[in-house]
Amino acid sequence: MKIGVLVSGRGSNLQALIDAYQSGKIEGHIALVISDNPNAYAIERCKKHKIPYKVVLRKDFPSKRDFEREMVRLLKEKEVELVVLAGFMRVLSGEFLSAFPMRVINIHPSLIPAFQGLNAQKQALDYGAKITGCTVHFVSEELDNGPVIIQACVPILPEDTEESLSERILKFEHRILPQAVKWISEGRVKIDGRKVVVEGAIYGTLPVNPMLEISF
Ligand code: GRF
Repeated sequence: MKIGVLVSGRGSNLQALIDAYQSGKIEGHIALVISDNPNAYAIERCKKHKIPYKVVLRKDFPSKRDFEREMVRLLKEKEVELVVLAGFMRVLSGEFLSAFPMRVINIHPSLIPAFQGLNAQKQALDYGAKITGCTVHFVSEELDNGPVIIQACVPILPEDTEESLSERILKFEHRILPQAVKWISEGRVKIDGRKVVVEGAIYGTLPVNPMLEISF
């Protein structure tokens, strides 16, 4: 499967995908990376790994619609079948999404529906949550919503700062995003309403609560 990746910044999730393709864990390739930020470090990663990329700036287009149409054109030109939002800091319209029906996914640093929107890690800390995590989900027109493909949970420790928590969550982002792309590439992901079923996936149970002092 050919994928397109949309980025705005550092691109560590993009790097996790690059690594997964290069090591043969996922079949197919990254056909195009689009950055809406000319200074994104993600672009350096593309150069280093010889991955095709384009910088598409919102300010170069008269409307959001034209900006998005250009991205769709570039992705279709490369025959992209799956669009991965990896730290892409814009909300896409229904028109963009309908160009890739149920083929746009996003990584978000919380267990959605908790802590949607910006600064999800800080939101979780400020709320006093004991567990948070990350989610890969299909993108719908609602912000950080849409059917969940995979989630990982991450404990919040008393001494955590926004930075330390973000770092702990990021390690899991780098695991679940390639996993979701692999499943979709293998045609194993079925969507039934809000529910996503992954054929042949092993559903394990993990201890999720680090504060549990008694066992039952
Ligand atoms: C990640 O935390 C991702 O979950 C969020 O934006 C951040 C992007 O990080 N959507 P990177 O650019 O992939 O390093």
